[in-house]
Amino acid sequence: MQIHSTIQSLRQALSSRTRVAFAPTMGNLHEGHASLMREGAKHADTVVASIFVNRTQFGPNEDFDTYPRTLEADCARLQAAGVDHVFAPAESELYPTPQSYFVTPSAAHDGILEGATRPGHFRGAATVVCKLFNIVQPDVALFGKKDYQQLMVLRNMVSELCLPIEIIGCEIVRAEDGLALSSRNGYLSAAARAEAPRLQRELAALAAAVRGGERDFARLEKAASAHLAAAGWQPDYIAIRRRSDLQAPDAGDALVVLAAAKIGTTRLIDNIEI
Ligand code: PAJ
Repeated sequence: MQIHSTIQSLRQALSSRTRVAFAPTMGNLHEGHASLMREGAKHADTVVASIFVNRTQFGPNEDFDTYPRTLEADCARLQAAGVDHVFAPAESELYPTPQSYFVTPSAAHDGILEGATRPGHFRGAATVVCKLFNIVQPDVALFGKKDYQQLMVLRNMVSELCLPIEIIGCEIVRAEDGLALSSRNGYLSAAARAEAPRLQRELAALAAAVRGGERDFARLEKAASAHLAAAGWQPDYIAIRRRSDLQAPDAGDALVVLAAAKIGTTRLIDNIEI
């Protein structure tokens, strides 16, 4: 496995490539990330991962400065997962001048759910992923369903900007007790970690009710939110949406239920396709 810190070095290494799979990350990697790399190897002969904590997708009061940076352990994990090339640039390599051009999702895609709570987040994420796509020029790119809205935004970006890249959404990897793996789980206190799987249990119960024929979505969303609040959480949203654009569903749409809630000082997100 080769580690590249410059665009030039990575481009040179990929110049004789045949078919490239790419999974961007912000590091502090876990099995969820590794699953993207292993899936990538099924679709290409060269697997590229990037590690870059992207300042422009963090809000002013978010955890950019404290986001865990664990490059050595990350590279060991990527090597074990079969990655061929790691791109780990410094900020000055990816943003040599302040960024003047952005990929900005529409308000319909950006102003809801995560985007409503984290203004500018998807503009920052879409812009850096677009830059990384132009650097790596992958045939296939892999993203986790853990960040469901990000996957939706990036699918639409690739489609509307006519980027010749196939986007693959990978299933959420969970701990044994059901908690979705996340770099931010490391922020949880022991008590909050013990409580955290409740989020997934509430979503699973709600999904089971919908599958069982319940159609009063507003009532289900409210009840799940009340259960979390009663257990000491601060729910941000619990929403049943259609998968394709995360808008309110019409009859017959394929559905997903998405949630964000704070336990202690840590904000967790999760979702289940219904
Ligand atoms: P990061 O949070 O590091 O996540 C990188 C990729 O790993 C994303 O596609 C995310 O959905 C996926 N992932 C995280 N936890 C997962 C889990 N438990 N199961 C499956 N996949 C999981 O998402 C970002 O970084 C950034 O926004 C990025 C796309 C790199 C742009 O900066």
